[in-house]
Amino acid sequence: MPQIKFYSRPAVPMEMHKVKIVQQLNLLPIRERLAKIKEAGFNTFMLHNKDIFLDMLTDSGVNAMSDNMQAAMLRADDAYAGSETFFRMRDKLEEIFGIANVLPAHQGRACEHIIAQHFVKPDSVAIMNYHFTTSKAHVTRLGGRVEELIKDEGLVTKSDLPFKGDIDLDKVRACIEKEGVENISYLRLEAGTNLIGGQPMSYENMKAATDLAREYGITTILDASLLQDNLYFIKVREESMKDKSIREITRMIADLFDIVYFSARKFGFARGGAILVRDEALFHEMEDLVTMFEGFLTYGGMSVKEMEAMIVGFDESMDMDVISQGPQFINHCVNALDSLGVPVVTPAGGLGAHIDARQLMSHIPAEQYPAGALTAALYLCGGIRGMERGTMSEERNADGSERIASVEMIRLAFPRRVFTLSQTEYVIDRVKWLCDHKDLIGGLRFVHEPKTLRFFTGKLEPIGDWPEKLMEAYIRDFGEDQ
Ligand SMILES: Cc1ncc(COP(=O)(O)O)c(C=O)c1O
Repeated sequence: MPQIKFYSRPAVPMEMHKVKIVQQLNLLPIRERLAKIKEAGFNTFMLHNKDIFLDMLTDSGVNAMSDNMQAAMLRADDAYAGSETFFRMRDKLEEIFGIANVLPAHQGRACEHIIAQHFVKPDSVAIMNYHFTTSKAHVTRLGGRVEELIKDEGLVTKSDLPFKGDIDLDKVRACIEKEGVENISYLRLEAGTNLIGGQPMSYENMKAATDLAREYGITTILDASLLQDNLYFIKVREESMKDKSIREITRMIADLFDIVYFSARKFGFARGGAILVRDEALFHEMEDLVTMFEGFLTYGGMSVKEMEAMIVGFDESMDMDVISQGPQFINHCVNALDSLGVPVVTPAGGLGAHIDARQLMSHIPAEQYPAGALTAALYLCGGIRGMERGTMSEERNADGSERIASVEMIRLAFPRRVFTLSQTEYVIDRVKWLCDHKDLIGGLRFVHEPKTLRFFTGKLEPIGDWPEKLMEAYIRDFGEDQ
């Protein structure tokens, strides 16, 4: 969508949809929020949704459906085996990606489970531009290793590089030569690279990396969960692609890969997932894992209603008016925070606005989870639920020491088509207030620490009484009732 021009007002991003159904929000007074975050062990995953004002935890499974998606759910063909809904979904995916072999799975990590189970051997190496929490955990669970070979510039927070998700081709070649091609399980490229700030990959880089893998006979896999945002950025930032349609770009990308998988909690605006496998023999080899872990081959653990919605959602993901909204709102938020002096990841990516907690909270040691503390503080001071993406989201080293994350961020996700511009302005305002009161925020330590994916269900406590002091400062500025 081109930016709509304004006559007498500064231009702002415009929604190309209108609201037809709403959900009432609830802003608890701050003293109640303090009690809730304590109960949640200072982990925003453990909060109840009813106690949250703006839920910016994730874009996963919380995107707004369109009227057409809702309508499509009514024609779902419920059957354990042979559902027409599945065949409609398969045909739509083939139309868009050009791959006819579709394995359904209940969400993105279920696809990763099946892929890892098939390809990962003990001590093998999965090469990635960057890991995602679940994609890495499935590899390490099976005794494999992940090598993240993103270009060095991709990890520089403040930058004007248009494609910070690009993989470093020299590092890829060196890794293959060092590890030996027989020890490489696959090359996985993640579109819209989540953990470095929803940063896109260029088509040019995807092509070069997959060409290189093919030279060695290495299987190439695209994680297309965040492809929608990446497509937008390729269209607007990659000069050689600007005249191509979103459908053409999608097909050109898919043609590079042996396997494409995605979480339909993101791609397709619904809830589910799928693995598209180019090679027929490989597809049949992987089928058994679907029936064992997910369900029969024509539903894979998904509700058929969601599958019908998804079919429409896939088409909507090919519409520039639809896919522009998220990145343009995020850009508005990131640019505003940047101009207010808040350290944010630039250029703005997809998925959400990302605040650099390492820089902002330099007074908190990495082992006391600065991004986790900032995330808890933002819920306290505004009722906004973000997600820690840093050391808390890592797993410890084998010797029990902390693995310090290369990036330490709080992510404020913008679920697609959900928030308005006034809500975005409120977020900007409360983040700026916190930034100006950052010295009041202290660290956290675990009181209950699960071994795997500890950030989901772990519980922490504050080091000192900083939450109370922060709350008093907030009350002085905004009063007791908000
Ligand atoms: C890039 C990427 N891959 C995989 C996943 C896992 O998908 P799911 O949450 O549906 O299991 C996610 C989820 O956030 C993701 O962002």
